[in-house]
Amino acid sequence: MTIIYKYNSRKQVATPTELAVTPGSRFMIVRGKVEVPGDKSLTHRLLLLAGLAPGTSALRGALTSFDARSTAGLLRTLGVEVSPLRQGGEVTVRGRARFKSPGKSLDCGNSGTTARLSLGLLAAHPFRSLLTGDPSLRRRPMRRVTEPLSLMGARFDGDRPDRLPLAVHGGALGPLEWSLPVSSAQIKGCLLMAGMAAGQPVSLFEPGGRSRDHTERLLRAFGYRVDEDANGWIRFEPTGRLLPFDLEVPGDPSSAAFLVGAALLAEGGELRVTGVGLNPTRTGFLRVLGRMGADITVEETGARAGEPVGDLVVRPGLLQATTVTAAEIPGLIDEIPLLAVLASRAGGITRFHEVGELRVKESDRLGLIAENLRAVGARAVVEGEALVVEGGEPPPAGRVVTAGDHRLAMAFAVLGTMKGARVRVDDMACAAVSFPGFSETMARIRGR
Ligand code: S3P
Repeated sequence: MTIIYKYNSRKQVATPTELAVTPGSRFMIVRGKVEVPGDKSLTHRLLLLAGLAPGTSALRGALTSFDARSTAGLLRTLGVEVSPLRQGGEVTVRGRARFKSPGKSLDCGNSGTTARLSLGLLAAHPFRSLLTGDPSLRRRPMRRVTEPLSLMGARFDGDRPDRLPLAVHGGALGPLEWSLPVSSAQIKGCLLMAGMAAGQPVSLFEPGGRSRDHTERLLRAFGYRVDEDANGWIRFEPTGRLLPFDLEVPGDPSSAAFLVGAALLAEGGELRVTGVGLNPTRTGFLRVLGRMGADITVEETGARAGEPVGDLVVRPGLLQATTVTAAEIPGLIDEIPLLAVLASRAGGITRFHEVGELRVKESDRLGLIAENLRAVGARAVVEGEALVVEGGEPPPAGRVVTAGDHRLAMAFAVLGTMKGARVRVDDMACAAVSFPGFSETMARIRGR
């Protein structure tokens, strides 16, 4: 069955004119049908769960990016056999009931999800694990997970350490009831993983709206009880058991968002992005773009790994400013760089409320979105915890500093595809953290 949602049917397609993709380049229309790589959040979770499911699991369409490789590498150090991650290939994982004590430190690379989710699992294992990461990850806060894990009974070298490298001494854990300091699927995923690995109940409250619910859905599929009570608490009961599985991973909606953005900024044509994960806790950006007047049709075609999937059909058009509320932020946290560059082309002033969490992403993403928008001639400011972007007409031109942040690189590369743009991004290689083949895919959607 195909379910079609029409987010907006207004057609305001600009008359095709000359478009500069990079300095001096060509007329741009979008065309064709593309897939995006597998969902990053699901790939991490499925690899980790497969690692503790005794037997052989298979993942089709898994992400093969740098971040996914960090999780696969960590599992190998813990004695789990994981086949090489190859684009288009199947990944097999030979899981074990308990991880083996690692003989060396566990390198999480650039991946906060790898570090935080695996800490939850390692806290329930009776050995010392030393986790580290690249300079970006070593700057990111960890007390948000080491504090509740300490309450469950895990010990750390140092008191509730806040930065990597850090060492956890795991073992028998107790139950937990915990109100998260910020809505975060990484904190929630860490603590649910700890409850699962320790066989203990865990109750969690997310203060600012529901973050992505992949962990809850997957644990339910293995027979664990995960319910939300009348007061909004997530109640986990260790009623299930991990078994090997064979699943196909949906395309990553966060990666699809960049292609959607490029199609919206184009001068004409139509783009279809296929097989995209449509979990409602991930598709807040589509609702915001609908309000901005974007012409996007969502065709839900089925399900993969227990999540709805479908196609996004996008046509270019003029955009208007909107207000993004605090409650919407957890459902589009990774799409704010892209939405901000689109807001810089929309009529009016767009406000993103309560986006302070962006300061502790792969970079100070909040500061860098605003600085880079100004660097290319747009108007953007950080006001307290809000980001304010004013749309303007002059084509963007200038140099973008990514600080190695993949989502900044891709968002500004999208801006650089628009008519008359002269945008230089200092590092496009970092796109491979989440979207291998990003530049090639962008080239493929370009028509004449
Ligand atoms: C992720 C959660 C988000 C997101 C990150 C992936 C996950 O972080 O920014 O890219 O897979 O759990 P927070 O939930 O901590 O905001």
